[in-house]
Parts: sequence; structure tokens; C-alpha cells
Amino acid sequence: MAKSVAELTFEEAKAELAFLKKELKRNDELYYNKAEPEISDWEYDQLRRRLNEIEDKFPKLKDGNSPSQKVGAPVSGVLSKIMHKKPMLSLENAFSAGDLGNFIERIQSFLNTSENLEFCAEHKIDGLSASILYKNGQLLYAATRGDGYVGEDVTNNVKAISTIPQNINFLGEIEIRGEVYMPIQSFKELNKQREEAGEKLFANPRNAAAGSLRQLDAEVTKSRNLGFFAYYINGTDLNINTQIEVMNFVKKLGFATSGCRLCHSLDDMEKYCQDTLLERPNLPYEIDGAVFKLNALELQERLGFVGRNPRHSIAFKFPAEEAETKILDILTGVGRTGKIIPVAILEPVNLNGAVVSRATLHNFSEIERKQIAVGDTVRILRSGDVIPKIISVTQKSGNATFAMPKICPSCGADLVQYPGLIDLYCPNHYGCSAQVVRYISYFVSKNCLDIPGLGEKQVAEFFDEGRIKTALDIFKLPKKEVESPLATKPGWGTVSAKKLYDAIENSRKVSLARFIVSLGIPGVGEVIAQLLASRFKNIESLQQAEKADLVELDGLGELMAEDIYTFFRNEINIKFIEEFKNLVTVSYNEKIVDENSALYGKTVVFTGTLSRLSRNEAKQIAISKGANVSSAISGKTDIVVVGETPGSKLNKATKLGIKIMSEDEFLRIKAI
Ligand code: IVH
Repeated sequence: MAKSVAELTFEEAKAELAFLKKELKRNDELYYNKAEPEISDWEYDQLRRRLNEIEDKFPKLKDGNSPSQKVGAPVSGVLSKIMHKKPMLSLENAFSAGDLGNFIERIQSFLNTSENLEFCAEHKIDGLSASILYKNGQLLYAATRGDGYVGEDVTNNVKAISTIPQNINFLGEIEIRGEVYMPIQSFKELNKQREEAGEKLFANPRNAAAGSLRQLDAEVTKSRNLGFFAYYINGTDLNINTQIEVMNFVKKLGFATSGCRLCHSLDDMEKYCQDTLLERPNLPYEIDGAVFKLNALELQERLGFVGRNPRHSIAFKFPAEEAETKILDILTGVGRTGKIIPVAILEPVNLNGAVVSRATLHNFSEIERKQIAVGDTVRILRSGDVIPKIISVTQKSGNATFAMPKICPSCGADLVQYPGLIDLYCPNHYGCSAQVVRYISYFVSKNCLDIPGLGEKQVAEFFDEGRIKTALDIFKLPKKEVESPLATKPGWGTVSAKKLYDAIENSRKVSLARFIVSLGIPGVGEVIAQLLASRFKNIESLQQAEKADLVELDGLGELMAEDIYTFFRNEINIKFIEEFKNLVTVSYNEKIVDENSALYGKTVVFTGTLSRLSRNEAKQIAISKGANVSSAISGKTDIVVVGETPGSKLNKATKLGIKIMSEDEFLRIKAI
């Protein structure tokens, strides 16, 4: 048990602060930049809280570098930057009614009043904050919070969120702030698609929202179904006096809000927290607490800030969704790529209103590491509405640790462990029915062929009934077959059979990117597929691509390039692609590339620091103009775009007589 802060000596406090700073920095990196948090938000808040307490007791130990002086995410190097008109700060956290009481007392003492104060209570949406600037009714730009002072330019991404108005009925300049979030249902669907595509899963809806908003390609944002709740305005002569009026005003402008309630006392605030906790399991979006804002804006102004937090508002954080239960069984499933996935079946337990009976075990090394056995009592944590995970074993049953299976639970093939990967795989990719059914379900899912009416359940039935043996058999279901036998099948009927037939016909027109996603190449989801489609233009050139051509593509890396290369050299895949091409019409050139552009067909290399574009953005622009971007200069290089302090590449290019282009010239081409 750690000592209380009051008991710490100066030296102990110094040592603990150093540890806390390191831990917070490491977890910030995991959370913001890698989107792979290791600890729950609750644990993170406790670290931060302890740091604040120690700094308050030993002010000499506080410096400008302390996490307590920083807000939010470090600005990433990828998107362009935008300076906020007013800093986007953060809220102090409260964890108990006592904390809320202190908050009210602090405000009363600051304002030198004992009068009852009114607070506007709102949901604390678990998303990421964004600022949107409108001028004369038009959306001018949008930015993430970033480090609180400088955010990332997400204008195009925000424009791709359908619930954010691009035009509002307001003259002059007004900034709207609020939270971008991903609805729980969309989050589940997205993770399901990613799992099927063999991509890394998002840890929770907030990470998914952040990953979807901070994209260079706004098309990706568009496909992610993000939402936005407004809760703040910044403008002049608005004649608005309270936070409640702010919420009504933004609604009138066409923004969604998550609602609000006026509280007149600490009791009201506690009641709001209790009511919200009850409401929480039924909300379509994730919340991690409640926010209380002093209702009178004039008083908010007077209160000002302390460090990175305004004095006028506080976030009441709900406790982490943790519970204890028993493991009844451990089952193994087979994923689309053959990955064996262990799942713990739990004695049903209530986790803040939702009954939980399964938990993910990720992989077998985790079972080994935590020595998990059937019968053990475990602590589970739900982060977001994703399937909960086991965080620790609290009571051993004495049973032997769950043993790694040796054979595939579906087809009985010997399982393998590929070098460098921790998971176990069934190598029988084309003969294991669990894998085939999973692949067909993936093939017809939204990101691939998008055939509504065919879910995993229907595909499994069709497969078991012998109607389809491979994914391409979907196209071979003759109309009569679909209509008549299906019409009499329980749960179908003439109308759904006809609908399915129409959906299959509609899916025969497919973009190159979707065609690529549908192939199910491990790790190739929609983003990588877009990248491959814009680089290779047609499936034949992609099939013939050499490993070196693939490695050069930004964002691919050696391993994925190797996987893609190998995939296209497999006999079964080659035959599949031939047949697939004959059954559908692939629309090539999804984005019309201007063949007259000075960059079209050219091999471009960037060197030095660009001042107005990030390197990634510049590469995307070049690709969109039909160029190939390469990282090294060779005889094949046509153009070198030079930023500040260029490296040896400039010398090499000059020697080889390659065309040199400044950032300005490059931007001029972009504009054409
Ligand atoms: S007001 C000075 N209202 O929580 C910051 N924030 O820790 C004023 N958040 O950065 C923010 N729901 O990302 C506000 N109803 C709400 C909110 C909310 C979620 C987030 C926001 C903010 C963080 C504060």
C-alpha cells in the first residue's frame, strides 16, 4: 500500500514524481499515438491524481514540464497544424461527492459568495474534442485539440461527418466546440470488419473515433459514421448568458447535443450522476462521466483558470466498469485467417447494467502469462462497449492452466505458430470450413461486396446446405435457385429472396479498392486497399508488383509487402482472382487522375523539411496526381521535391541531373 501524500518526505516525493512522470508519458504515448492503451482510464486518472497531490504538497517539485501543465495529445507530425483562437483546455476530475462539494466551495470562496450556484450538467462524452470555425455561415476550418494550443487540421474530415452542418444560419465568425465520437454500434461493426480483415482492433470507441478523424484521406473518415455533440461556442455579440442557452443556441444552429440538466445543489448533482449511470447502458454512445459547468457565463469569465483547468467546470469520472466472476469454460474459435481465438465463458455478471458472459483472452501467451484455468475467479474490465477483458486472476481454482490446443477445433489440422507471431494458426486456409465460412461472410460484408441480407448466420446455413462452397458461388446462385428454394426456407420468403438476388446483381459492379479488400489478404483493410488501388490502377499491375514496388508504398512496411507479394503468387489465389474478375465489373481509376499533371507517371522523391505540408500529406498529394513516391534516389527518379535543410539526396539528384522542385512549385502543381 502506498504511503499517503502527507507521509512522504521530500526525497520520497521527488522519486515518486519522477516515476509518475515517466509512467504518464509512456501511457500518453500508448494512448494518443499508438491507440493501444495498456491501463484503464481509471488507473490513468489515479496516476494523474497522485501526481497533482504530490505537486500541491511540494510545489518546489513542480515545473513547466510536468504532465499537470499539459493538455491532451502531443501534436502528431502527420496532419497540418492550426493554432486555436483560445486554448482548448481540459477539466479537473472529481471522483466522489466530496470532490464535487469541494469544487462548489472553491467557487463560492473565489467569488466571495455563499449564494446557491446553478450548474449545467452534461454527459462526459468519451470521444475527442474538436473546434470548428464558421465564417458568414460557412464551415471554414476544423481542428483537433492537439496540445491545447495547436491542433491538427481536420477540416476535410469534419466535413465528411454528415451530422456536422457545413452551412449555418449565422453571420460573422463563430467557433463551435464539441466532442467527436463513434456510436457504440458503429464501433462494434468497425472492429468486426477489422478483425475479419486481420487488422488491429481499436481498444474502445474513443480510440476508434480518434483514428477515424485523424486521417489524411477524408474518405476513410466518411466511411466511419462518426457523430458530433456540440457544447461550447466562442463568438462576439451573441447575447447568450448561460451554458443552458449555449446548448439551445447550438441546437438551433443545427448541431446535435447530448442534452443537459440544470442543477441547483450538490444533491441535484449527485442525483444527475446516479440517473446518468442508470441511463448509461442504454445510450448509443460511450460516456465516462458527467460534466458540471457553472451556468452563468459571466461568472465563468470571472473565475478564470488554474493551470490547465478552468475553475468553473469539473468532470465527474464514473468508476471503471470492473467486476469479479468465474471462468466456466474456455472455448476456441477460428478466425478468417486461421487465427485460433480463445474466449472465456463466464458466470454471467452485471457490469454497470449490462450482463456479461464472455471475455476475450486475446491469445495463448496471455493465458500462459496469467496462468488462467477453468474455474478461476477473475477480475474483468470493460473498456468501451467492447467484449470485456480479463485483467487478473483473483482466486486460483487449482485446475491446470488451460493448455494450448494442438489441432484446429474445426477441421482437425495440426496448428502452427508462424515465426515472429504469438498466435496459433490453422494452416488449412482453403479446406477448413470454419475459415471458409468466415471468409465468405467477410466477402459479402459492407466493406467488401456489400450484399445486405447475407450475414454470418445465413452464409453458414448456405454453406451447410451445400448451396455455396466458395465465395464466388454467391454469383452462381441462379435466379431460380435463389428465388424458389429460398422462398420456402424458414425466415426467407419470396420478397427477401428477390431482394437478395437484386443485392447480388448490384454487387457485381465493384471498385478496384473493394475488389482488393474482398480478396482477404491478411492485414489489407480499406486504407491499404485504397493505397494499392491508387498506386497500381488495375488488378493486373498489382498482381505483377515486385516486392520492392510494394515496400516503397508509404504505410506498408516489409512484412505486409511480403504478405501481399506471396498472396499473389499462390496458385489458388491466382485462379480465384481470374474467376472473380469474370464475374464482376471492376471500375478502375476511382479517382480521375489528370494525365496532364506535371507529376503524372513521374517517380518523385522528397527530401528536407517541408514547411507547409507534412511529409505524409505531400506524398498523398503526389500519389493523387498520378506520381509514384519513392524514398531513395535512383536512375528512375524524375523529380526531387526539396524542403528546408535537405540531406545528401539533393547532391545526388544534382549529380544525376534530376529535376529539382521547391515546395512552392510543388504546391502550385497541387493547385492545378
Ligand atoms: S467542456 C475546458 N463538456 O472532456 C474544457 N468537455 O477533460 C472544456 N468532454 O477536453 C470542455 N464531454 O474532450 C466539455 N460535455 C462536455 C464534454 C467534454 C466530453 C471532454 C473534452 C474535454 C475533456 C475534458
